[in-house]
Amino acid sequence: TTAAAQLSRSALLFLSRQSNLKDVATRLKPFRQLASRFIAGETLEEAVDAVKALTAKGLMASFDHLNEAVRSPQETRDEVRQYLRLLARIDQVGVRANVSLKLTQCGVLFDRNLALQNARAVVADATARDSFVRVDMEESAVTQVTLDIVRDLHSEFGERHVGAVLQSYLRRTEEDAKALCAERVRIRLCKGAYLEGPDVAFPDKKDVDANFVRCMRILLDSGVYHGIATHDERMIDATLEYAARQRLPKGAFEFQMLYGIRRDLQERLVKEGHPVRVYVPYGKHWYPYFMRRLAERPANLWFVMRNLVKG
Ligand code: FDA
Repeated sequence: TTAAAQLSRSALLFLSRQSNLKDVATRLKPFRQLASRFIAGETLEEAVDAVKALTAKGLMASFDHLNEAVRSPQETRDEVRQYLRLLARIDQVGVRANVSLKLTQCGVLFDRNLALQNARAVVADATARDSFVRVDMEESAVTQVTLDIVRDLHSEFGERHVGAVLQSYLRRTEEDAKALCAERVRIRLCKGAYLEGPDVAFPDKKDVDANFVRCMRILLDSGVYHGIATHDERMIDATLEYAARQRLPKGAFEFQMLYGIRRDLQERLVKEGHPVRVYVPYGKHWYPYFMRRLAERPANLWFVMRNLVKG
């Protein structure tokens, strides 16, 4: 079953990049229905409602306006405008939320400098509002440029307003974690969600998990406020155990989970007194994000299939 799971994971991640499939798939009702479990809505106001409900349960949030691999300069500027609107709305509503941003949404695939300027505009606005921008991590082709840009922004705006993401499936991540911690850059640690070759990423889940634990310890030892982003109870237990052993107070770091996944665990950790932030994606361009969520758990696909067959 491991081989079968690997195969369906790779197949789904391959399909996540097929934009011609996107137009067909996103019109299918069962597909849209399952997607609505993971996406807070297509509009900002739907996402705001979702975050209000989370806030009522003691959870914090990070809004993400879905869009990636953007190829037109105009579209990247529209994305910046979306984020400025979003930051203003967060202030107005008074929810405990920050934002997550992708550099391929800012144009990094065709113009590095444009991406930096776009991201800078968002981080500058977030800084003025005393908020925070998490720069999501994408495929390994953009890992280096992403970290370079985060470092630029970090030196200009400081650790309280911008932070990075590291993926434990990458072989380079342990070194990146050590370097970024030494520079006091806030990190979100996750396992990684893209299709990568064995040259850059660990092919075996057990190695990805072992590296997650190694990197988690580097983060917790650093004295910087980081995010531990996983739904894996073994990773969460390892984190709690290490934090207790190092006598870290609750609130020295936060747990982070995705909207619609393991709500029970999100609420349990909050009840136990740990800060928990939920990543809340919204917008029209939900197809690639949703396909990555399917790839993490191909069993989800049976739900779509069954309902397609039933009509
Ligand atoms: P794992 O995949 O081992 O899952 C553990 C358990 O969680 C499963 O047994 C199941 O119960 C539950 N679960 C996990 N995924 C599920 C799903 N899709 N549907 C239903 N149940 C599921 N990645 C990236 O490359 N760049 C990024 O910037 C981010 N950002 C990010 C932010 C936050 C807040 C989170 C939580 C995750 C990310 N990720 C990410 C995604 C991350 O890399 C990873 O793909 C997923 O979190 C799944 O890995 P887990 O750690 O949950 O473990």
